[in-house]
Amino acid sequence: MKTQQSSGTPPRRWLSLKKQRAWTALFVFLSLAAWLSGCSVLELDGAEFMDLPSSLQPRGPAAAQIEGLWWLMFWLGTIIYLIVMGYLLWALIRKRRQDENILSPRGEQNIVFFGGAIIPAIVLLTVFGFTLGVMWDISDTEGEEEMRIEVTGHQWWWEVYYPAERVETANEIHIPVGQPVRIFLTSDDVIHSFWVPQLHGKLDLNPGQITSFVIQADEPGVYWGECAEFCGVQHAQMRFVVVAESPEQTLAWLEEQSEPAQVPADELAQLGMQVFLDSNCVECHRIGGTNATGDLGPDLTHLASRRTLAAGTVDNTIGNLSGWISDPHSIKPGVLMPPSDLSGEELQALLAFLATLE
Ligand code: CUA
Repeated sequence: MKTQQSSGTPPRRWLSLKKQRAWTALFVFLSLAAWLSGCSVLELDGAEFMDLPSSLQPRGPAAAQIEGLWWLMFWLGTIIYLIVMGYLLWALIRKRRQDENILSPRGEQNIVFFGGAIIPAIVLLTVFGFTLGVMWDISDTEGEEEMRIEVTGHQWWWEVYYPAERVETANEIHIPVGQPVRIFLTSDDVIHSFWVPQLHGKLDLNPGQITSFVIQADEPGVYWGECAEFCGVQHAQMRFVVVAESPEQTLAWLEEQSEPAQVPADELAQLGMQVFLDSNCVECHRIGGTNATGDLGPDLTHLASRRTLAAGTVDNTIGNLSGWISDPHSIKPGVLMPPSDLSGEELQALLAFLATLE
């Protein structure tokens, strides 16, 4: 064998050069396709994209810092990926001559030393340094807040309380735009995590412990929030909205929310109020101004003013509310609320009453 090689016959290749190049081209094409397919979401039109709870569309100072860190990591990763892939391609494509020896043993050692230790260390230390800086910046907010809100996590909904205004609601938080708002977090059962990607990073809600951070929205809008810590079967249906509006609108909203419920003028709704107060609804739900004082489920005093039902599971419409009361498990399996055995007339009356709770 040795004599054959040295006499000028090239060694048999596993693949011919042509096939090697074809495979290389296919590999590059597939890598690029996989990489670019992640961009499809960017092609959505502006309005749709605004609705996505994307941390790449920040609407507050903390989220903007986190976005900056994300892009730093993205570009560092992209540059390193391109260099490594370019190097690999060059190794695959270039014609290799028999007697060629591009690098000296010393050169090979240097490549391993710099490429495998020094450059990764510089990259990791850079990312680490910037991460610490951002963490410091967005957590160093002692005493800055203009409003305080207490949020308690439940399986699977969010209890929201404004202590200064004595307003209780659920799954919907209103904040004044341009003002820092401190959110205090705790949990009634298991660990949850409060995340509004366009406004801030995540923060856990731990039972028996209070954590807090400051969020701020710089633009008016409705921002989706979600639970970001697995907390049981309906973890994915534990959402909320943050409504950022002018300070005047926030104050007006708080004033409305602090009002007790009124006895409805409509006869059907009056009947519905009786249905509610005579049923086991009152064991879990509170309606301000009535004898319903349960605190296991969401406060319903201003239920009709909210955008969603069941923590962002469905829109707040009469149809969805009817389905929810009749059989909540068909909408959110595993939820604590039991199905009701109301007659058709009772349900109609109850819905008429609940619609008055604005
Ligand atoms: Cu609460 Cu996941």
